Amino acid sequence: MDTQLTHHSRFGGCGAKINPGDLSDILCAIDVPENANVIVGLKGFDDAGVYRLNDELALVQTVDFFTPVVNDPYWFGQIAAANALSDIYAMGATPITALNIVCFSPKKFDIGLLREILRGGTDKLRDSEASLLGGHSVEDDEIKYGLAVTGVVNPQQMVRNEGAQPGDLLILTKPLGTGILISAMKGNRVSKETEEHLVTVMAALNRHASELMISAHAHAATDVTGFGLAGHLKEMIKENLGVEIYADKLPYFPESQELYAEGFLPSAFYTNRDFYTPFVEIDEEVACSRFLGDLLFDPQSSGGLLIALEEDSFDAFLREALRLSVDHWVIGRSTQGPKGTIRVR
Ligand code: CO
Ligand code: CO
Repeated sequence: MDTQLTHHSRFGGCGAKINPGDLSDILCAIDVPENANVIVGLKGFDDAGVYRLNDELALVQTVDFFTPVVNDPYWFGQIAAANALSDIYAMGATPITALNIVCFSPKKFDIGLLREILRGGTDKLRDSEASLLGGHSVEDDEIKYGLAVTGVVNPQQMVRNEGAQPGDLLILTKPLGTGILISAMKGNRVSKETEEHLVTVMAALNRHASELMISAHAHAATDVTGFGLAGHLKEMIKENLGVEIYADKLPYFPESQELYAEGFLPSAFYTNRDFYTPFVEIDEEVACSRFLGDLLFDPQSSGGLLIALEEDSFDAFLREALRLSVDHWVIGRSTQGPKGTIRVR
């Protein structure tokens, strides 16, 4: 019986292994069924789909599951659930129900591991106050776990990944570097303290961050996951806006810098860097520190919210952030242009 969860994840646990360009080509070529009540559908590339029930109420739906990112099954369950719930929070919605998605082989692994994974997921769901209604499992030699989550939102209050205005502040609510640390953890190269810090951050719900952005009337938001900061910024600005990122303001797990230098990089990092480099302009001074520039391409697991906020709303945002104890870093600003470009300075 195996007990090392992560040794069996051939693809690592950071999502986004399919080239983001190929994925959008495939999806754009498919004629998807959508009626007039679909507010946010497949082609919006938003965090979750949104379907109008009436003028005040819309359903918000998302699904996310992945291979173990940590060896501890209880923590993995919590992280996978927090990650799945995050797409609901990124829309400014409230999760109400969830379904488990389980891939597991009782022949290969001790069933106790599955019990711990599900206990972790369920405890996290309880924190979100969503109800677990059921689920589906498939026998699979590679463990995978996650949730399909349904939420509700008032369509007028919903926060999309587009909608940022020139001059908006860009705020991030969790540090970067999880992809580097997860890949170093598989080589047992991460200190106990950093590992504890990392799992606590990844397992933290984006619930309060979501409440915070709604109360501050954020213009746009998304959660930073497999495509890294660069990929999710690009989704936010599309071809309508530019963005300026302050490299010295980027938050990251301190140990990720030295592990990056040792070469611990997940495969999705390279996919992201190849795909998004044409949209990123790194100023010369920043380019000297390859780490800060490359941090933009690090795939995140259960990352924080990236929020676009009018500067005038920032005082109110700060007061609420303090009240709700939400970590936050102002990492840049959206600009008039060059459109579609992420400038790092
Ligand atoms: Co998302
Ligand atoms: Co997702």
